[in-house]
Amino acid sequence: MSEQRPSLRMMRPDLERLPPMEPVLAALPAGYTFRTYRPGDEAGWTTLMNTGEMGTWTVERTLDELTGRPQFDRDGLFLITVGPDEQAVGSACAWLPDYAETETGILHMVCVLPDHRGKRLSYAVCLAVLHRFRQRGFRRVTLSTNDWRLGAVKVYLELGYQPVYRHPMHPQQWQEVIQKLQWAGQIVPVVEQVGAASAS
Ligand SMILES: CC(C)(COP(=O)(O)OP(=O)(O)OC[C@H]1O[C@@H](n2cnc3c(N)ncnc32)[C@H](O)[C@@H]1OP(=O)(O)O)[C@@H](O)C(=O)NCCC(=O)NCCS
Repeated sequence: MSEQRPSLRMMRPDLERLPPMEPVLAALPAGYTFRTYRPGDEAGWTTLMNTGEMGTWTVERTLDELTGRPQFDRDGLFLITVGPDEQAVGSACAWLPDYAETETGILHMVCVLPDHRGKRLSYAVCLAVLHRFRQRGFRRVTLSTNDWRLGAVKVYLELGYQPVYRHPMHPQQWQEVIQKLQWAGQIVPVVEQVGAASAS
């Protein structure tokens, strides 16, 4: 892991030409169920997030920082569950920098439980977030990630996110990521003018 390397930013600059959800849901492996948030999901979501190298979560923190916040959209947290007790094994959340935001959404808390990775479950929940933002009239969606989260970056590229260059190291980091992924798709970086000291 590269603690000294700046995190990466990506953006889907528009919400046109989204792949339809139906074939993606139809292609989920047997036994997996796709749904939106229900009150009480915090415990299962917390357990899931704690497997994602995205900080340490407790149910209280999940309530304080996510589901209890005004910008939490209960129809924008998508979960994939398994089994009769509906264990949460995949998540992605439509998030906002603040409640008043109406144009630029954030893809947040993308995670799949380790035993269930390798089945492209994250693609379905991430695509659902894009559809949710389009339904709400948003123009674009951003996300933050890291250059060592190669599986996540591949899914984001497949979904039409582009690299955002906002740090002097970003072009080099992206060159390496694209090489490691052997990504042959079109890359059109979004260049943001941000001072290197404040960019991360
Ligand atoms: C990111 C994450 C959600 C993806 O889970 P998933 O939906 O099971 O994704 P997959 O494992 O099916 O991987 C998606 C693609 O990336 C590829 N991939 C995965 N890891 C890779 C790696 N280290 N190098 C290259 N490609 C990789 C897979 O082969 C797959 O491509 P393919 O379908 O063409 O074969 C999961 O790895 C995870 O929860 N990680 C920890 C949390 C995290 O990093 N979240 C993102 C925060 S920004």
